[in-house]
Amino acid sequence: MRPLTVIGNWKMNGSIAGNAIWIEAVCSEMEKGMPAGRRYGVCPPYPFLAQCGGLIQSCSLAPLSLGAQDVSAEQLGPFTGEVSAAMLSEFGCTYVLVGHSERRDRYNESDQLVAEKALQVLDHGMTPIICVGETADERNSGRAVEVVRGQVAKQVAILQDRLADSLIAYEPVWAIGTGKVASAQIAQDMHREIRLQLAEFDADVASHVGILYGGSVKPDNAVELFAMPDIDGGLIGGASLDPQEFLAICRA
Ligand code: PGA
Repeated sequence: MRPLTVIGNWKMNGSIAGNAIWIEAVCSEMEKGMPAGRRYGVCPPYPFLAQCGGLIQSCSLAPLSLGAQDVSAEQLGPFTGEVSAAMLSEFGCTYVLVGHSERRDRYNESDQLVAEKALQVLDHGMTPIICVGETADERNSGRAVEVVRGQVAKQVAILQDRLADSLIAYEPVWAIGTGKVASAQIAQDMHREIRLQLAEFDADVASHVGILYGGSVKPDNAVELFAMPDIDGGLIGGASLDPQEFLAICRA
């Protein structure tokens, strides 16, 4: 049985004062009790990891984990501006996003680089959340499955059975931050496709890997999405900025 996982991705949002209010609101509600067998995480920008990690630790009963939005593919050394997996691990991160479409698109991240980042995350005992997804043009020209399969294939080739310790997030680019959520059936069909592809490699890996959906998830569409057999949770952008919306999705 794969646990349902809900991860908030704040992107380049947050402030020292605002983060404290968010963590306090979410943790105090979570401490009152959450649905069993689920995992929750939040990914603030790098400079806030220490603050948010400390605040989360001080509410030890809240089932909330810390995550980061990216990581370097390098271990250490002269890579100005980069942040290593060892550093993220020292700050108490459990999850690390790799290959978010905003990074693939704006910073030219390739499937190869994404897999190298995921390996760094795994080597440091954390869980990579490997993001994949097609653009509107790719879907409209009937190539959505081919594109996503290509992205997943590279991860399979490089990570092999270490994929069993990873999460995959299917995030159609046309649904990210647009309010255009994929219908639960469209999302389920792609999640199924990804699981079948993983099963071609190894049936055990395929049954273990959690596949999250991301792209305009809100409290009112989360229930239907999370009810799908191959959707194992969500990666939440915009709606994770509001603690009450995030909590409502966590409970969906
Ligand atoms: P969104 O973003 O929920 O704002 O669409 C999701 C994501 O980019 O992870």
